[in-house]
Amino acid sequence: MKKTSMGAAVAALTTTGFASAYSVIIQDGDKPALLGGRPVRPGGSGLGVSWPMYDDTDVQMYLDAYKSKIWSEYRNSPKELSFRFEKEFAALMGAGYCAATSSGTVALDAAQRALDIGPGDEVITQTNTFIATAQTTFNLYALPVFVDTDPETFMINADLIEERITPNTRAILPVHIGGAAADMDKIMAIAKKHNLVVIEDACQAHMGEWRNRKLGTIGNLGCFSFQEGKNLCGGEGGAVLGNEDDLMARVDAYTNNGRDPRGQDRSFTGSNFRITPFVAANLLGQMRRLEVQSALRDENCLYLEQLLSGIQGVRPTKKYPGQTRRAYYEYQLIYEKDHFKGLSKERFREAMRAEGIPFGNGIDSSLHLDPFIETYFNLRGFQKVFPKARLDKYRKENVCPVNERIGKETGLSLGQQVFLGTKKDMEDIVGAIVKIQKQAAQLL
Ligand SMILES: Cc1ncc(COP(=O)(O)O)c(C=O)c1O
Repeated sequence: MKKTSMGAAVAALTTTGFASAYSVIIQDGDKPALLGGRPVRPGGSGLGVSWPMYDDTDVQMYLDAYKSKIWSEYRNSPKELSFRFEKEFAALMGAGYCAATSSGTVALDAAQRALDIGPGDEVITQTNTFIATAQTTFNLYALPVFVDTDPETFMINADLIEERITPNTRAILPVHIGGAAADMDKIMAIAKKHNLVVIEDACQAHMGEWRNRKLGTIGNLGCFSFQEGKNLCGGEGGAVLGNEDDLMARVDAYTNNGRDPRGQDRSFTGSNFRITPFVAANLLGQMRRLEVQSALRDENCLYLEQLLSGIQGVRPTKKYPGQTRRAYYEYQLIYEKDHFKGLSKERFREAMRAEGIPFGNGIDSSLHLDPFIETYFNLRGFQKVFPKARLDKYRKENVCPVNERIGKETGLSLGQQVFLGTKKDMEDIVGAIVKIQKQAAQLL
């Protein structure tokens, strides 16, 4: 649909059958809820569903795990629930192997250790991510090198990766942030050209796809989180996926105190990152509804995008052509204040919250600004490994202005639970946007 003025847009929506989206809005004389008007969603009625979700079968599966009296699983035996989960998750994702872990954080840790990333190495990643992505590299006395964000997709800007490669670079660690896909064609080509490995942080991207392959199965290793808020949640938990036999044996062994999953070799490094059978039971229960939930999110999101195409000022982020399906941990949108009489993003979010539509900030963080960097640099180990000149160079090059701008001015997001709601939820989102747009002058 061609972008038009507000009145024409509403008319266009009417002719295409979306008029109901606006039934909530704009009786003349109405005020923004922030200024005492009636909210689009009165009474604090939340968007979407309450999360996490479970039914009696989930509870029974959990109880069965408890009653089995196998409360700790380290045997790599088909009788173990964690073993069963690993097989089923690998099959669902189209991966050769899965090693379940006690969190997404340690999945990233195990992946980097299995690839022998260590002191002095550099791992290219993005600033727009959860802190664990970079902590796990720092914990190995290696440097996460933060690359700025593409302003249209909010993903790592793959065009900026090559200029950050040095002789110390070992890996690229893109994050499918929010559940959308990083530009994996470009990233894999750069990795090949420079002989680097790729670890996908797919902790927010369960069921997303790149060229019909699941996110997390395209690089050498892919890491997942099953923490409570994630689209596949077990409470706490994580997994590493991969297709290379020896590499995945090292990952699996690392998570299980060096035990070779193939029962052959005693020479692996290791720790204990094991998942409990209770989490595995939760995950097996949750997996029953994963595709149905993903399909519902797809459907609601499509409807939301149709509605948004009729207005200006709030639009979905773009996707790379290789993204055949996205996940929805945080669905990102772009706010353009010029269409709201210059209303700042924060004021817009405040006004939308008052209407009962809470938007997230659009980015996970601007990690390159985080004080934890200097905390690591002050550790004795870091001072031993890195000469001052190298850390100074790192500080100088550690700039990501686009991500900062997205955080301050343009980024918005909606959480995955929102897309498990109803069409009416989608209509209320757009209805409230239109209401605030019309009343923006009152909010300045
Ligand atoms: C992008 C990203 N990476 C890593 C993690 C770490 O996962 P966990 O919280 O399971 O340790 C998370 C989850 O919070 C995440 O969102």
